[in-house]
Amino acid sequence: MHKIWKVTIVLLVLSAIIDKVFAYPKSPVQSVFEANEIVPDVIPIAPYWKVWVTYATGVEVEFGNELTPTEVKDIPFVWWTCDDKSHKYYTLAIVDPDAPSRVEPTSRNWNHWLVGNIPGNDVPSGETIADFVGAGPGLGSGLHRYVYLVYKQPSRLFFNEPRLSNRSAVNRTNFSITDFAKKYNLGDPIAGNFFVAQYDDYVPILYEQLGL
Ligand SMILES: *[C@@H]1O[C@H](CO)[C@@H](O)[C@H](O)[C@H]1NC(C)=O
Ligand SMILES: *[C@@H]1O[C@H](CO)[C@@H](O)[C@H](O)[C@H]1NC(C)=O
Ligand SMILES: *[C@@H]1O[C@H](CO)[C@@H](O)[C@H](O)[C@H]1NC(C)=O
Repeated sequence: MHKIWKVTIVLLVLSAIIDKVFAYPKSPVQSVFEANEIVPDVIPIAPYWKVWVTYATGVEVEFGNELTPTEVKDIPFVWWTCDDKSHKYYTLAIVDPDAPSRVEPTSRNWNHWLVGNIPGNDVPSGETIADFVGAGPGLGSGLHRYVYLVYKQPSRLFFNEPRLSNRSAVNRTNFSITDFAKKYNLGDPIAGNFFVAQYDDYVPILYEQLGL
């Protein structure tokens, strides 16, 4: 083999090894968000950290595990690491990008819960913008992704938004958490998690509550 080719091959192999060893590693959250297309369907950049979510029925959200609407019908306990005392306020959201279905998501996203001005990770002390509504995937619409996102706020904020009740479906569709984050200068989400769910017999009860 010609010497120049040998040198080139050695250099290519070396640079591949250096890339592998020194590249900034993706976190498990970032890898799973990208593999499940939450990036780019919901957000342009995946969060680094995990959000812990436990429902009263005992089930936990764990990066795409399947839960039933019955299991996730009530407000969960949500927790994330927030040791940065200079940034005291956080925003929490749950959105379903697969409304009305993942194959034809014409109402992307459905706004399931939006709480701002959360002091640290004390969600019940935050300011509710959209009341919590559990998962309500339509009959025959397949699995939907339910995405939890936490943003660090630059300061305490005034949210100039209509307050959405859990007794109505008005203004829940076509919601972009990314546009919301831009509007309020929240940057990219710092933590996230998600589960998937499909129709079960709790869904008609939920639709009745929403007046659908
Ligand atoms: C949501 O967006 C779709 C298309 O992007 C549009 O057809 C529909 O009317 C919108 N729905 C509402 C409630 O604005
Ligand atoms: C729905 O959104 C529109 C436009 O932002 C607003 O004018 C209206 O008051 C909202 N309705 C409810 C019930 O939140
Ligand atoms: C609706 O939201 C209110 C206020 O957040 C809460 O007290 C109530 O339990 C919720 N109702 C349902 C049916 O989820």
